[in-house]
Amino acid sequence: MEKSSPTKPFARIAGIGSCLPEKVMTNHDLEGSLETTDEWIVSHTGIRERHVVVEGQNCSDLGVEAARRALDDAGVSAEELGLVICTTCSGDYANLPTTACLIQGALGAVHAGAVELNSACTGFPYALGLARGYCVEHQTPVLVVAAEVISRLLDWSDRSTCILFGDGAGAVVLTPSETPGLVDEVLGADGTGGGVLIRQEGTRFPRQGNAGPHFIEMNGKAIFPFAVRIMERVIRDLLERNHLQLDEVQHVVPHQANRRIIEAVARHMEVPLERFFLNIEHVANISSASVPVALDELYRSGAIRKGDRILTVGFGAGLTFGGNLLVWDK
Ligand code: UT7
Repeated sequence: MEKSSPTKPFARIAGIGSCLPEKVMTNHDLEGSLETTDEWIVSHTGIRERHVVVEGQNCSDLGVEAARRALDDAGVSAEELGLVICTTCSGDYANLPTTACLIQGALGAVHAGAVELNSACTGFPYALGLARGYCVEHQTPVLVVAAEVISRLLDWSDRSTCILFGDGAGAVVLTPSETPGLVDEVLGADGTGGGVLIRQEGTRFPRQGNAGPHFIEMNGKAIFPFAVRIMERVIRDLLERNHLQLDEVQHVVPHQANRRIIEAVARHMEVPLERFFLNIEHVANISSASVPVALDELYRSGAIRKGDRILTVGFGAGLTFGGNLLVWDK
């Protein structure tokens, strides 16, 4: 295909959508099968319920639905897309084919490449950061979908982990723009700390017979202080790099892993908790879909005005961390 010269030097979010499975699992539902209580889960995490898939419903199904809503919102057709990026750590297949390809195929995005990106719960800030460059360089709409079905990777007898997660998908469509909608990103990792959140499903762990998929193993206590420290650092880095104060940012949309983590970040930064958008109560931790689902909910609530500055911030397995600075332009 002929290369077009960049005429619009920036990228913006032109459309956003999300999809949560209909089935809701409350803390009370878990009380029956686990030694836990609604009171413990709410007081330690802020979570009251989560959405989970039913049999026959898969990660790509949620991703396709979120993508369709985002395309619709942007007024962009699937045929116009130049690239589909899917971020997931709980795709339909282990790796092959990628969920990105399943989504590209189901949408009929016939002119788009498809690539999967996995930086665990930080997937969305990473994908948005990388998509920004492709969108501008190729002057093409790019779809970023974050889709997760973590419920199928959980040991439902491990009360310290299974209560935290939910399923869902969020998507955005980026288009080239005259003014900066996606302003900046901070992406980081500490690959020496990955042992605190792993899933033994890789070539390092040859399969024994027909054993099913391995579950997520997490040392939540070790992740907690890292999360608080790193979220504050990402926010401060983004502000400093862009010569901004936090009170010049209208919305902070954090990864929803634990309400207490976000409370601690607000406390350390000496800002009211209200500066951070929270929806963990009814969606729990949806890994990489957490930020776009929250952003979509905030947008649908009518709270975002054109021109508002928004910070996203996340952390996850790897260990990874990152965030984006956006100016809402729609
Ligand atoms: O996307 C990123 C992924 N992960 C995270 O962000 C996880 C970050 N960490 C956390 O959110 C918290 O550390 C947890 C919610 C996982 C745990 O909260 P905690 O306040 O750190 O609890 P704890 O691990 O210190 O456990 C306290 C007690 C323990 O009992 P003992 O040993 O004191 O008798 C646990 O066995 O609470 C017990 N416990 C529970 N009790 C009732 C752990 N889970 C539960 C439960 N219900 N679901």
